[in-house]
Amino acid sequence: KNTENQMLVIFGASGDLTARKLVPALYNLYESGHLPKNFVVLGASRSDLSDEDFRKKVVLESKYLTDKIKDKNRDGIQKFAEMFFYEDLGKDYDVDYTPLRKRVGDLNDEKGTEGNIMYYLSTPPTLYETIAKNLADAGLSTQNNGWKRLIVEKPFGYSLETAKALNKGLQQHFSESQIYRIDHYLGKETVQNLLVTRFANSIFEPLWNRNYIDHIEITNAESVGVEKRGGYYDKSGALRDMFQNHLLQIVSLIVMEPPIGDGAEEIRNEKVKALKSLRVMKDEKTLHDHTIRAQYMASEINGEKVKGYREEEGVDPESTTETYAAIKFFVDNWRWKDVPFYVRTAKRMPTKVTEVVIHFKTPHHQIFKESGIHSKDNKLIIRIQPDEGILIKFGVKVPGQGFKVERANLDFYYSSLVETRVMEAYERLLLDAMQGDATLYARADEVEAAWEFVDPILDYWQKGKDVRMYGYPSGTWGPTNADDLIEGIGFWRNPGEN
Ligand code: BG6
Repeated sequence: KNTENQMLVIFGASGDLTARKLVPALYNLYESGHLPKNFVVLGASRSDLSDEDFRKKVVLESKYLTDKIKDKNRDGIQKFAEMFFYEDLGKDYDVDYTPLRKRVGDLNDEKGTEGNIMYYLSTPPTLYETIAKNLADAGLSTQNNGWKRLIVEKPFGYSLETAKALNKGLQQHFSESQIYRIDHYLGKETVQNLLVTRFANSIFEPLWNRNYIDHIEITNAESVGVEKRGGYYDKSGALRDMFQNHLLQIVSLIVMEPPIGDGAEEIRNEKVKALKSLRVMKDEKTLHDHTIRAQYMASEINGEKVKGYREEEGVDPESTTETYAAIKFFVDNWRWKDVPFYVRTAKRMPTKVTEVVIHFKTPHHQIFKESGIHSKDNKLIIRIQPDEGILIKFGVKVPGQGFKVERANLDFYYSSLVETRVMEAYERLLLDAMQGDATLYARADEVEAAWEFVDPILDYWQKGKDVRMYGYPSGTWGPTNADDLIEGIGFWRNPGEN
């Protein structure tokens, strides 16, 4: 695909995300020859920096590019740094953007970026609407001379109501087709591979329904705690931070019907339909029985003491924000009727892993009585990260007399296939947006449909005085009570198990 000459304007450019994620992604695009001939990055934020300061901060002296800097590629990095410029917005983002417009115009003329501008909002979300409005007021959103696109980071809204307000607010200044809502999980190869696994093969899709699937389990575990983001996290929690966006994105790819093609709208239409078919939990009994929340507690991991969530910096000592969430739910459509989905996400687990487990039903008629195990052990495990790949578990005959059945694995590792370097999530997503491809970005209705499902749970957790907040020692698989959720069906599969 063609990447047109363009300028990337990053708001909040002196923040962590720019140096940690965006610039390394741009560097990789630069090195692999994916940047257009004429390309400019203009950082804009409230710090008083010169172009040179900004180049040093995010490129030449960036700890996120250390290996590139000390590398033989010194000339390359210098040339790369020269694409970076900086504009100080003054004390506030809510100012007249006429000076910014002048700077953009000058750079555009000088560097030949043809009026194409990508705005990247890497600021606190409370500023999104303000920035969009000020851009529009300064005539910086019109597309008469070159396209204008707006990328916004998560969190996209804090609830259904705020997400709707934000969508409406942004759409007053930019049209929906100009808005790119980033969800970095969609940039992960293995998440995209869910589509290929399902729709490029004829061996999975015929089984991909209530007739053959018993239940579906998704685990997203992180070994880290909230690190330095206590202040943000305490207002967010696992449900908002991971579930509403990343995990429901994965759910939508598992649940969706086959799209008629691979176009952005075709795929996103099906995802929205999938999200809308999640059964919203309305009554307290279901909310009580099907949701579990918990916080990590102080503990020792590998001989090292770690703090409990409530002792973390920036966290209220009486916080009721969850660092663990496990949710059981159903999908009300023809394909998935009565198939339970179990999804959990948490910080301070034993390891960092994300995987989807499709548990198949037992065959109608059991012939091999002495087997001990049966085909309920048929599982398709999709490893999103790490060790990206697909594992199929099935029964084989034990050599010798009789029909003893043993479990065997068919295990595919993505790394065994990929010869070229796999693009990082941000790299892939940035390049897509630069090329005007919104397939891997969330549409307004998609985000709202996800909030529609999450809102009642958050409400219930906030209001319900009797809603238990469990604790789990850091470095464990969460509260044992979460086993009740999945009881009767089996156990959570703790990744890494056979
Ligand atoms: C972010 C969350 O969106 O995703 C973080 O805000 C979380 O809390 C991160 O750590 C996980 O991303 P990944 O790609 O490391 O699984």
